[in-house]
Amino acid sequence: MKLNAAALAALAVTASATPNERRQETGCASAVTLDASTNVWTKYKLHANSFYRSEVEAAAETMTGTAAEKALKVADIGSFVWVDTRSAISRLEDAIVGVPCDDILGVVIYDLPGRDCAAKASNGELKVGELSVYKTEYIDPIVKILKANPNTAFALVIEPDSLPNLVTNIDLQTCQDSAEGYREGVAYAISELNLPNVVMYLDAGHGGWLGWNDNLEPGAEELAAVYKAAGSPSQLRGIATNVAGWNAWDLSPGEFADATDAEWNKCQNEKIYVETFGEALAAAGMPNHAIIDTSRNGVQGLREEWGNWCNVDGAGFGLRPSSETGSTIADAFVWVKPGGESDGTSDSSATRYDSYCGKPDAYQPSPEAGTWNQAYFEMLLNNAKPAF
Ligand code: BGC
Repeated sequence: MKLNAAALAALAVTASATPNERRQETGCASAVTLDASTNVWTKYKLHANSFYRSEVEAAAETMTGTAAEKALKVADIGSFVWVDTRSAISRLEDAIVGVPCDDILGVVIYDLPGRDCAAKASNGELKVGELSVYKTEYIDPIVKILKANPNTAFALVIEPDSLPNLVTNIDLQTCQDSAEGYREGVAYAISELNLPNVVMYLDAGHGGWLGWNDNLEPGAEELAAVYKAAGSPSQLRGIATNVAGWNAWDLSPGEFADATDAEWNKCQNEKIYVETFGEALAAAGMPNHAIIDTSRNGVQGLREEWGNWCNVDGAGFGLRPSSETGSTIADAFVWVKPGGESDGTSDSSATRYDSYCGKPDAYQPSPEAGTWNQAYFEMLLNNAKPAF
């Protein structure tokens, strides 16, 4: 990316900020300019956001002794804030307060019309056809907030599961109905959110999804087409993978390497996936660096099948956020899913009940998606690898 004179000047100011300037309450002393042709995670630390901090602190209050002490350590780990409804935009506003100059605030953009078209647990507030509501009442207000905070750095994960669903679940009527809104909505989001203080990553599922040999090229083309339709936004750095997922980073042989269908998937861990899918993205003409969600992938060997995604029983917190990944294509390990928040309800009478959340390897009982599950949080903590 070529920087103009103003951007270079802003960078110089940021770089030369004195400790005093850095200590001010929110953000830096001057405008932040992120160069999305570089790995911003080497300069910025994922912010331990106030929303997750209060969830974790409340959880710790109900615990005692060393368990409570350990729980409080989780509050200091950087993680993403999910803006999963229009009303949750206020979470973003609250979370910006006090983000230091050295930190980057992670935000998940997640409110497409007809959301979660291949499952039920995370069906959202907007219906198919409500794209104009998505644009004007969801994306536009977020853009306004990010513009009003030019001195703060933001990392955005864009619409988990949406485009991957169009690659592999387009046989479902629900995904066919959602398709146009997903493509147009994501393109609108990444073109409008293309701001100097923002770096963006498009969700690309995980190795057990778009990593199947037959899905690599169509997957890369689906993402690249939307990126191009958005005018190839300069602040889009690549992809986010394993969001709310369970795959190990570099376990070898991979967890499902012995499965009968393993020969059809050469991406048996997330490292191989980001490297392999990254090549397909480059061929399709899209930036291909990756951030990988390692929030809940500490324990392997728990799922009966690779596709089981709901509240996996026995899970543990995984690798802490870090830019030291050992792979040039992988910018950072990040915590995207707030560990302790449910993936979906196990109550089979609920409207958003998805049968995956009632499988034998899914923790039960579990509350509605996004809702705190104290017992699950304690399990993640006990099984954390590395341990707390
Ligand atoms: C839910 C969201 C929630 C997110 C993070 C998703 O599965 O649908 O409501 O914000 O998980 O917990």
